[in-house]
Amino acid sequence: MNVVTNFKWIEAANYDEMSKIAATIFIDQLKKNSETVLGLATGGTPEGFYKELVAAYKAGEVSFAQAKSFNLDEYVGIDPANESSYHYYMDHHLFNHVDMKRDNINLPAGIQSNLEKAAAEYEAMIKEAGNIDIQLLGIGGNGHIGFNEPGTPFDVGTHIIELAQSTREANKVYFDSIEDVPTHAITMGIKTILSSKKIVLLIASASKQEAFDRLRSRIVTEDFPASALHNHPDVTVIYTDMK
Ligand code: F6R
Repeated sequence: MNVVTNFKWIEAANYDEMSKIAATIFIDQLKKNSETVLGLATGGTPEGFYKELVAAYKAGEVSFAQAKSFNLDEYVGIDPANESSYHYYMDHHLFNHVDMKRDNINLPAGIQSNLEKAAAEYEAMIKEAGNIDIQLLGIGGNGHIGFNEPGTPFDVGTHIIELAQSTREANKVYFDSIEDVPTHAITMGIKTILSSKKIVLLIASASKQEAFDRLRSRIVTEDFPASALHNHPDVTVIYTDMK
């Protein structure tokens, strides 16, 4: 199916500029509404973005004191204290350095006796918060958003997913070995992501060229999860040279 995309495409001169443009969008949103519900992502791509947010906070340009956040995903079976967990990543890159209230920070729980229940509760909490005002996304080489791997139906909320082998390979740099990379994750669903009011997608590495081209093609298919974003009215893609 070909659709007319509503995407706003912004080409940044380099990685730093991509990070700055994205941070400015989030800072402006927080200035407009201090109680913004932030949707946050982890991974290599947004590290520069978080640096920019921390710098802006330290310069007194923005406060997170009234904001709430929900992260996209977490590995199943990884303790929040583990350095490879997304809980740890977020503390390290953002939360330890800004005035966000701990009670307002939410990440899906990767260690729970009943993961399905935890997923449903996370979904309900996002709804209860009035849905996400602005969601940051990266993209997997296979087109995943959050950890919604190819084939994930577009109409499911937060759920447990088996990670694609290519995703485990891509993320093994954060673990001692491939065997240590979890096989499953808990992730917001595509339905959850599409319920965000505004979406900002960052693309910045050579390994994403194919995904970038597929996104540009505007073909919407469950085989390429990021293509679901063409059904959203307010997506900004900030990308930089992928060579
Ligand atoms: C992270 C997430 C993933 C990553 C994607 C790209 O919370 O949900 O979809 O955004 O795997 O990761 P990087 O940026 O490491 O290439």
